[in-house]
Amino acid sequence: MRILSGLQPTGRLHIGNYFGMMQPALQLQHEGDAYYFIADYHSLTVIHNAAELRDNVYNLAIDFLACGLDPNKSTFFRQSDVPEHTELAWILSCVTPVPMLENAHSYKDKTARGFTPSTGLFTYPVLMAADILIYDSDIVPVGKDQKQHLEIARDIATKMNLTFGENTLKLPTARIREASAIVPGLDGQKMSKSYGNTISLFEDEKLLKKKIMRIVTDATPVEDPKPTEGSFILQLYRLVANDTEYDELVADFQRGGTGYGDFKKRLLSKLWDFFAEAREQRETILAKPGYVEDVLQHGASKARAVARQTIDRVRDAVGLSSAK
Ligand code: TYM
Repeated sequence: MRILSGLQPTGRLHIGNYFGMMQPALQLQHEGDAYYFIADYHSLTVIHNAAELRDNVYNLAIDFLACGLDPNKSTFFRQSDVPEHTELAWILSCVTPVPMLENAHSYKDKTARGFTPSTGLFTYPVLMAADILIYDSDIVPVGKDQKQHLEIARDIATKMNLTFGENTLKLPTARIREASAIVPGLDGQKMSKSYGNTISLFEDEKLLKKKIMRIVTDATPVEDPKPTEGSFILQLYRLVANDTEYDELVADFQRGGTGYGDFKKRLLSKLWDFFAEAREQRETILAKPGYVEDVLQHGASKARAVARQTIDRVRDAVGLSSAK
């Protein structure tokens, strides 16, 4: 079973990324042949500063390794080290109808917010389809916001197979973990860099405290029972606490007599402890100069060998000369 997923290096990792994609991806690395990558080509749709992009890629690589990505088990690489992704994207774009891309939520959202879209932003889902299809991926662990992109990838693969032969590309399946499909941010909307409501994994302790205290709650008086339905504190606590701890917090909500400030402190403490090991690992990795680049280079050469096979197969199917 081939598993694949990617993350954009557009800023520091947040806990929406972690619980939506990384944690399931880290578990899956023990169940199949996993390919995880840093989607730096995709980030060019928003970052136009070379130093910032390089810095983000480096930090994201360290963070993913610190969280438990095992480079001996998974193939971990930088997307732009495998330029075959962009070649496949071009071929796919030639069978992709424009209206399919005009209907993509992420494109519609950005244009609705007044962004003048680049061609890259418009064809973003085609490159993402290429990322997935070039490894003959079976399963793609992602958060719910990527669901439509996975549907587009399947539609494009289907179109390719109808046009050029049924075994040209393999159809992938999204793996969305319901419990963390949409992790809420501090304001209760989906946690997202573009909404400025994120909690980073490696947040400074003081800043983390400030952020947790900002989580939106209702105006129930301290002595009254608090509503558990729709509570963002509980939703976040669910992700970092065990079942008993979670049940205790729910019971305290229902009992009344405790204020939201107290509940937030409990969330803060659990969240801080949850990432303690990753923080330590991060320091260890930082102390090994060259390690991260070595891992990425090694991953890229493995990934590239697989990608070249697919590109050869597709070139042959569509009538282009062999890539070799
Ligand atoms: P990106 O970088 O925006 O997010 C990385 C992963 O984190 C998930 N995620 C969330 N999950 C739950 N709750 C949230 N609040 C939350 N915020 C983010 C995302 O669903 C994603 O799984 N287009 C992709 C990157 C990409 C990719 C790919 C992914 C490029 N090529 C091929 C899979 C396969 C993106 O922008 O993810």
